[in-house]
Amino acid sequence: MTILIINGPNLNMLGKRNPEVYGTETLEDIEKMIEGYADEKGIRTEFFHSAHEGALVEKLNEAYGKYDGVIINAGAYTHYSYAIRDAIEILKVPVIEVHLSDIHAREAFRNISVIEPVCTKQIAGFGSKGYLMAVDAILEGK
Ligand code: DQA
Repeated sequence: MTILIINGPNLNMLGKRNPEVYGTETLEDIEKMIEGYADEKGIRTEFFHSAHEGALVEKLNEAYGKYDGVIINAGAYTHYSYAIRDAIEILKVPVIEVHLSDIHAREAFRNISVIEPVCTKQIAGFGSKGYLMAVDAILEGK
């Protein structure tokens, strides 16, 4: 079993970016933590980060038929990218939407996720632990 973990714009700045909202771990720390957790469960992981909407769409297209599940934190694209929404809709495997912060308890523009209707599950507000919860959700086939 192999899962793809995608992180979008500004998540490469974790550690420096609004630590009171997003915590102090870097993206590398989080990726290592996910890798270790998945490894214990016998799952292989691949990671992808880009700030570019098109690159995220292309990666999702390439993921077709290649992975057993996808975890995506699309950053701000979550709130308005219909291109990413459509790319997720094509996939036949569970796609779990993750947000470090609780997008429902912040600015109004963050309350809406245009990808939520095409994702299997949304996990928001649990910090980096949310990615581990997403690994479990894929395992449970939710
Ligand atoms: C985020 C929430 C988004 O609103 C924001 O634009 C991000 C990070 C989160 O992980 O909490 O870049 O997806």
